[in-house]
Amino acid sequence: TIGEVAQKRDYNAYAVGGFVRDLLLKKPNFDLDIVIEGDGILFAKALAAHLGGRYRKHERFKTAVVLMKNGFKIDIATARLEYYEYPAAMPTVELSSIKLDLSRRDFTINAMAIQLNPARFGTLIDFFNCQSDLKKKVIKVLHNLSFVEDPSRIFRAIRFEKRMGFQISPHTRRLINNAVTMKLFGKAADMRFLSELKIILSEENPLPALQRLSEFNLFQFLWPDLRPHYKVDRRYGHILIQAQMAISWHRLLYLDEPCQNWMVYLLTIMSRSPVDILLRFCKRFEETQKNTNYLRDQKILCDRAIHTLRRDRRMKNSEIVACLESIQIEGLLYMMAIARKNHVKKAISSYVTTLRELKPAVTGKDLIALGYTPGPRFKKILDYLKNCRLDGLAASSEQEILLVTK
Ligand code: CTP
Repeated sequence: TIGEVAQKRDYNAYAVGGFVRDLLLKKPNFDLDIVIEGDGILFAKALAAHLGGRYRKHERFKTAVVLMKNGFKIDIATARLEYYEYPAAMPTVELSSIKLDLSRRDFTINAMAIQLNPARFGTLIDFFNCQSDLKKKVIKVLHNLSFVEDPSRIFRAIRFEKRMGFQISPHTRRLINNAVTMKLFGKAADMRFLSELKIILSEENPLPALQRLSEFNLFQFLWPDLRPHYKVDRRYGHILIQAQMAISWHRLLYLDEPCQNWMVYLLTIMSRSPVDILLRFCKRFEETQKNTNYLRDQKILCDRAIHTLRRDRRMKNSEIVACLESIQIEGLLYMMAIARKNHVKKAISSYVTTLRELKPAVTGKDLIALGYTPGPRFKKILDYLKNCRLDGLAASSEQEILLVTK
């Protein structure tokens, strides 16, 4: 369909980037990136009409997104045809702009395209011997200034290496080391750093990539307050493993409760840093105000709560609930990661699995039936009953009613 819509306008359409890479690796990838030789925005409009979807455009970058009703998303970029006028009688030369587009990409494994026009549908376009690198499982930049142009690509190299079990080529490793020595990261605040870091922290197992970041001495840019050249050492590695275990444990509870894993790791990494360092980190990497506030609140609440839990081994369930009530799941898992005492871990896990859901059997309606008039006392009574249930003082609605009427 895409090829046909393009053909109608005499455009060339290509699938590019990660989609092609994953297709050749026979891995699923639901993000389709298209490059159009022609007007990408006009194409997006035609495609959206054809597929019955919507589209959003970015005039300045000549890009657009087509959004389908089923949630499928197609990113469309324009590769402009570049014409070189020669003097007098010479013809205008049209440069293949897909080649230019691909040559500007991050790594060879991401620099292939597949033709989508009907006549050549499925033809692999590989100008830079990319397929051979994919077979050899190496990650290689296309040119020496790749990381100077965009230092966030260093994160990407590490992510691809660890996710797919590839190797960063020796030359590309040298370029990363050069970029680190030149302190390319420190220069500009760049939100791409954080978005790439978030992707790493959202991987199934981000620890090998973090280890690699630390090997390349990148922690000094990310978390300057950690000891200089901080390695993923024993204590630090240990709490990161704990964070990963807490996240997997939560996933296996099948609660269908969304959790932003990157936040759990970020809080864990910054567990020993004061709040203002966390805020400075968010500011430097241009995190949204909403996420910044969320992280700040979780950090403050958790660091306080863990202190309370640690002090008292014999807390009643109702006290555990009072202590953890205002903390979100990301904070709870962070606390599980950094808790060293067993009774603290146990309190948090029982809160996550059961205590937070516990409600009294008696409802407001029951209270009305018992002759109470709705008002502020209602909440007090219901809270009291909830605590009785939490602490095992009432196990049924009859016992609760007895407690109320007493
Ligand atoms: N790209 C790049 N430089 C970047 C980011 C992206 O050259 N800093 C190019 C790459 O060719 C990449 C494509 O843009 O394949 C799409 O980027 P993105 O969707 O971020 O990555 P994917 O390669 O699709 O990886 P993933 O599977 O993780 O989405």
